[in-house]
Amino acid sequence: MNIIGPEYLTFGVDDVRACVQYLIDYGLKPLDVDDQGGFLEALDGTGVLIRHRDHAGLPAPMGTASTLRETVYGVADESTLQAIEHELRKDREVHRTDDGVLHAIDDMGFALGFRITQRRALALPGEISNAPGSTTLREVNSLGASNEMAALPRSLSHVVYFVPDADKAEAFYTRLGFVCTDRFIGTGPFLRPAGTLDHHTLFFINTPPFMKGIEHFTFHMAGPTEVMLAGTRFVEKGYQSFWGPGRHQLGSNWFWYFNSPLGCHVEYDADMDLHDDSWAPRVEPSSADTSQYFLFEHREKWMPGGKPE
Ligand SMILES: [Fe+2]
Repeated sequence: MNIIGPEYLTFGVDDVRACVQYLIDYGLKPLDVDDQGGFLEALDGTGVLIRHRDHAGLPAPMGTASTLRETVYGVADESTLQAIEHELRKDREVHRTDDGVLHAIDDMGFALGFRITQRRALALPGEISNAPGSTTLREVNSLGASNEMAALPRSLSHVVYFVPDADKAEAFYTRLGFVCTDRFIGTGPFLRPAGTLDHHTLFFINTPPFMKGIEHFTFHMAGPTEVMLAGTRFVEKGYQSFWGPGRHQLGSNWFWYFNSPLGCHVEYDADMDLHDDSWAPRVEPSSADTSQYFLFEHREKWMPGGKPE
């Protein structure tokens, strides 16, 4: 099943205005947004749909504090939609809405949607490092960093769920063609659907049932410089850093997580490893040491010099 990855996430929130402003400040572009919320998109058209928790037509809440109402995946074609529908009809209700989205509920109670992807193909260079010996260098006289860099989220990368039974959750997504790329013992697997090489678009964290819901979501940036630039600008706008910046071990993705009014963390990520079916999953104990190679903490800009304090 050619599932490419998450296309958009739907939230039902208390404070629509704060969530919309948060995502604009994060770097998403608002489309058709008014006081009822609306859709905010990254450069490739993937994004986040914000609605008030009582908005008519939203998928039902999960019965926990989680504000995530639906994860909608982009798929390659109609035959993939039909294959998903055929598989899920074996043991659950599936329906299509007028917007072409196929809806179902997974074995943990998370609402899922699937539609033929509307992602726009991006033709943008990534960050290039002027490494001695490399044949790929930046053009002469082009700058590696500047205050003019927009540092905008490019594409919805992954979503992480708190689940009460990660094994059961993994078994469900295996039916849809997701494969495990790496695994944290006792926490959960990193999963990759068939239509992408990204290390993961989905990760589970085993938690007590009352915590069930979304832990975080993130968009891919051009590289580590954009993660640092966007994150620094976000802090300077008053948002609270939760974890990072740093670089994860499994997936090698650069990360920086922030608190949000959506009731989950929101991350910037960059430079995730790519894998295909020849990759053998690693199995690691879950710990601070295995979660990152290094971790920094933001501090106010500073320079040496001046009078002694
Ligand atoms: Fe993440």
